[in-house]
Order: sequence, then C-alpha cells, then structure tokens
Amino acid sequence: MSIINKFYVVGDPIEQSFSPTIHNTVFKYLNLPYHYDRKLVNEENIDSFVKLAKRDKQIYGFSVTHPNKQLILPFIDELGEMARVIGAANCVAVRNGLLFGYNTDGNGYIKSIMRTGFDFNGAKVKIIGAGGAARSIIYSLLQVNIASLTIYNRSLPKAVQIASEFGGKANVQRLEDFSPIHCDLLINATSVGMQPHISDCPVDNLDGILPDTFVSDIIYSPERTKFLQMAEAKGCAVENGLKMLILQALISEEIWFERNDLANNEELIELIEEEVKKEIKAKLL
Ligand code: ATR
Repeated sequence: MSIINKFYVVGDPIEQSFSPTIHNTVFKYLNLPYHYDRKLVNEENIDSFVKLAKRDKQIYGFSVTHPNKQLILPFIDELGEMARVIGAANCVAVRNGLLFGYNTDGNGYIKSIMRTGFDFNGAKVKIIGAGGAARSIIYSLLQVNIASLTIYNRSLPKAVQIASEFGGKANVQRLEDFSPIHCDLLINATSVGMQPHISDCPVDNLDGILPDTFVSDIIYSPERTKFLQMAEAKGCAVENGLKMLILQALISEEIWFERNDLANNEELIELIEEEVKKEIKAKLL
C-alpha cells in the first residue's frame, strides 16, 4: 500500500514525542495508508517547514508542539476562534496550500475528564499553573458551565493576565496561598513532578481536601505524580494527563478528516493508551 498522506509533529526537542505512536495507531485502526513522523522544527527553520507543508501536496496536516505553538501563528492563513483567543495553535490542517490553525488541547482536557463521568455543570474548579497548557485548559473550562474557577500560580501577574484576557469567572491567587477546600475539581497544569523530577510537587500538602474532590494532573509520566499520590491518599479519584494527550490528538484527527467519531471511540482510546504506555515503559528502561 503506498503512503498517500503524510503528517508530522513539529517541535524542538521532538524525539520524546508520543504523537507518532498515537496517530499511527489511529491510521492503522482506520486502515488508512498514511504516515505520521517527527520533525525537528524551531524558530530557525519554521519558515522552511511551512513552505514545504504548503508545497508538498502529500502533507495533509501537522501537530505543533514546543516551541512552535505561538511561532506558527504568523504563518496561519485562517485561525480558529479558540487558537486565536488562546494565542497558540497545536493542530494545523493544510488545505489547497493554505494553513488552518486550531487549538485542541483544552477540549482534549475537558473530554478526558468528562469521560470519567465528572459533571462540569456547577462545578467549583481550582487550577494550578498559568503557562501555555493552563491557558488552553482555562479557556475551555470557561466554555462549560462551571460555577467558579480559581487560578493559582507561583507568579501572580501571569494568572492575572489570563483571568483578565478570558474574562468570565476566574479568580486568581498566589500559589503560596493555595487551599484545596471548596473544590469539586482540582487540576495541576504545571510541569512540576514530571519525569525525572518525580519527587517534586507544586503544593506541600492537600490538607483539608474532601475525598469527593476529583483531582487531575496534566502529567502522564510518571503515571501517578506525587500530587496525584497525595490526592489518592486522601481518598480522591484521580486522572493523569494521558487521556488528555490522546484526546487532543483524536480531536486533531477529526479536524483533518472532517469527522466526529474518533474522540468518543472508547476502543480506539484504549488501544492508543496501551501503545503509549508500552512506549513510556520502553523509554524508562
Ligand atoms: P507549559 O507551556 O508546558 O504550560 P510554561 O508556559 O513554562 O509551560 O508554564 C509552566 C507553569 O508551571 C507555570 O504556571 C509556572 O509558574 P510560573 O508562571 O510562576 O513560572 C509553573 N511552574 C514551573 N515550575 C514551577 C515550580 N517549581 N513551582 C510552581 N510552579 C511552577
């Protein structure tokens, strides 16, 4: 079978990306003769990659990761509403030599939590972090019918900036004033606790948290960060960031192929999860 469409994830560093495993698993599952690969792209060569993407008719779309989520914006011909407000794109579709930019991170997060049965309707939400990942999640949280949102960040100005840009219900607090009480959903949207710094945690303790608080972390390696371990010790249900990673990718696939039956395909989600877990394990050996 000849490969008729090519897809990439572009970033720097890029070797660690699980996106090829995720997307190639989807192509195999759908029996599509497509291939998805990594490309080392940064501020030095992003313009030549864009030229290639516009010229090469086989390039159908690409995923965008650090440091390119903002760098790609000036090259985009048409930017989706979410990517425009967030100021970052993680998914690009190439159609007739034009680039269409989207942000699927926040909705990937929302879907990953909804599929656990969590009800956002009227929920009191607290999020730690005000970086790029937090921005996308906060934007999407403000689209669902939550009751309140508190953003905790080490440096307050970044949190204030997000809250004022997005409007809505967001309150801001310094991380040192963190408290997990009066909260239905608590999110770590920082990279604190990620491999290899597995004993780090964005907060000292979760004292006072109620066991019916749902606790999530955008980190997926380790499978249980110190933050999630602390939450489990308090009896809370937890979810790591692996489903968010998978679902943002499946929403990207839905954009590329103009379909809507992938991000709710549990069989496919489980298959991808198995493949990514195998790769994480192999990388840790
Ligand atoms: P990303 O795009 O992956 O979200 P980022 O934009 O660098 O990465 O944001 C990282 C987030 O983690 C920020 O909220 C950052 O807090 P600051 O805005 O104060 O820098 C947070 N963060 C990083 N290291 C931290 C630490 N040691 N303690 C608490 N927060 C930390």
